[in-house]
Amino acid sequence: MSNVVLSTNKLCKTFSSGGMQQHVLKNLDIEIYEGDFTVIMGSSGAGKSTLLYALSGMDKPTLGSILFFGNEITKLSNDKLAVFRRLNCGFVFQQMFLLDNMSILDNILINGLLINSDRKAITAKAKELLTQVGLTETIWNKFPTQLSGGEAQRAAIVRALINNPKVVFADEPTGSLNSAAGKAALDVLTEVNNKGQSVIMVTHDLNSARRGNRILFIRDGVIHGTCELGNYVSGDRKRHEKLQAFLDDMGW
Ligand SMILES: Nc1ncnc2c1ncn2[C@@H]1O[C@H](COP(=O)(O)OP(=O)(O)OP(=O)(O)O)[C@@H](O)[C@H]1O
Ligand SMILES: [Mg+2]
Repeated sequence: MSNVVLSTNKLCKTFSSGGMQQHVLKNLDIEIYEGDFTVIMGSSGAGKSTLLYALSGMDKPTLGSILFFGNEITKLSNDKLAVFRRLNCGFVFQQMFLLDNMSILDNILINGLLINSDRKAITAKAKELLTQVGLTETIWNKFPTQLSGGEAQRAAIVRALINNPKVVFADEPTGSLNSAAGKAALDVLTEVNNKGQSVIMVTHDLNSARRGNRILFIRDGVIHGTCELGNYVSGDRKRHEKLQAFLDDMGW
């Protein structure tokens, strides 16, 4: 059995607004294993993004604990958590948060230079990753507002990967991509996963989900089902059928 990267104990997240309480995550006990490509699925509003924010330390849970590489991250100060995340995590979120006053290349470099001062190496890696996701030289010096949604999304993926994070968190990373661009983005995530980096990805999309080796399905604030798929092999029909049958079972 692989090492556990992340585990939660009775994780709860409740939102309060207008005098109403919404219990979005209810006593979740989850384990995420090292080197896994974990996929989180569930209907819109089920709490997938909320779970990803909590697991990655971007948002504090209401109750419960999260052990991340042995650190109880709910107890870390904001500063310590920021350093921990910078050293270990890469993030692709539904809102992309690219800085508007900087070129795409600089958006990526600024992240890379936070932990590696070798500008030449970081620049070469950035350009290689950009090319891999299908972003050619013509867009490297453009500003985020000059990019299509899909281009910006791919740039955000490169930014998340520039520091070789041990864990990549991705929330609908192919949400605004057509099938060719989506495939390029998924290929890059699969490649980093094959090199041993753990990936935790939220998706609605079956084609994206099949990249995972373990699928968690969230419903009514709990993990309603888990499916072990084994490693992704392109065109593996049995695996695809297993995923389809699991999702049918989940009522997806
Ligand atoms: N900051 C917030 N304040 C109040 N309610 C929130 C907040 N963030 C999320 N919620 C609520 O929590 C529920 C789960 O939201 P979440 O964004 O996790 O869903 P999701 O599964 O990611 O959905 P989608 O597939 O549409 O992205 C939703 O009903 C949402 O309205
Ligand atoms: Mg979401």
